[in-house]
Amino acid sequence: MSSAAEPKPSLAASVPESVPERRRIEVRALSKTFGKPGANTAGQVPAVDRVSFDLRQGEFVALLGPSGCGKSTILNMIAGLIPHSGGEIRVDGEVVEAGKVKPQVGYVFQRDTVFAWRTVARNIGYGLEIKGVPKAEREARVAHMIGQARLKGFENAFPLTLSGGMRQRVSLMRTLIMEPQILLMDEPFGALDTHTKLEMHQILLELWERERQTVIFVTHDLSEALTLADRIILLSARPGRIKQDFAIPFPRPRDAIKLRETAEYGAMFAKVWHSLGEEFAATKAE
Ligand SMILES: Nc1ncnc2c1ncn2[C@@H]1O[C@H](COP(=O)(O)OP(=O)(O)OP(=O)(O)O)[C@@H](O)[C@H]1O
Ligand SMILES: [Mg+2]
Repeated sequence: MSSAAEPKPSLAASVPESVPERRRIEVRALSKTFGKPGANTAGQVPAVDRVSFDLRQGEFVALLGPSGCGKSTILNMIAGLIPHSGGEIRVDGEVVEAGKVKPQVGYVFQRDTVFAWRTVARNIGYGLEIKGVPKAEREARVAHMIGQARLKGFENAFPLTLSGGMRQRVSLMRTLIMEPQILLMDEPFGALDTHTKLEMHQILLELWERERQTVIFVTHDLSEALTLADRIILLSARPGRIKQDFAIPFPRPRDAIKLRETAEYGAMFAKVWHSLGEEFAATKAE
């Protein structure tokens, strides 16, 4: 891995030429049923049903749907954390197998997963420590990330003394410091208040503008999806199926606050909201 000071290779160039249209993620008829497989379907939970989509290099896609529709399950299968029950996933042209996490993939979990016993700096530097990156390089890269996350002055603080938003920034930076080309994010800001969430959106947008990672961002918050994504893939209520795939053509760079004042944002919100509302109603009727 290169140090922060060295010029980085373009992320697009890192996708093998043989991969069609530089597709980073290919999901084909992906299904997941929890519980024991077999003729007896009692106790089986169909969570995801034949979901297919592709992500090209640098695309920022939001996976949107009501609670329990299988969003985390889809992300966990793409990350190679759990096996699927049907279909296929490819990352950079290679089939994903459960238990074999790809090195180019970073995951920010649904709950912040900082270590309570490590300081901010040692949380952010954790992955580099495990990799055996020399101390001087590690410290330089951690200092850089702390600056980017607006956490200067809190290097030696323990997570318990931080706000929820600060902890979530530590979590985010701990993943980003490993320079993942593909970023899977599972409602990383779900527990934050509106103002802190908007601040996180601004930070994430600024970081992403610079690196242009390929991102799948799971959320059930439509405003968040519209603020961040190039595309919103809307899932139906459980079992999750793709209901609609919306292009979000708002110009970039985006201002998380000003964007919401535009007529285009309002029109797009109404369009997706109608479809999402139908799924909320379906969940309620279950
Ligand atoms: N390990 C498991 N064993 C059995 N059922 C599970 C397991 N994990 C998830 N499920 C079920 O699969 C369905 C989808 O769960 P998942 O966590 O993917 O939903 P989600 O869309 O991420 O919801 P939320 O927005 O609340 O996080 C749910 O009905 C859930 O109960
Ligand atoms: Mg979830």
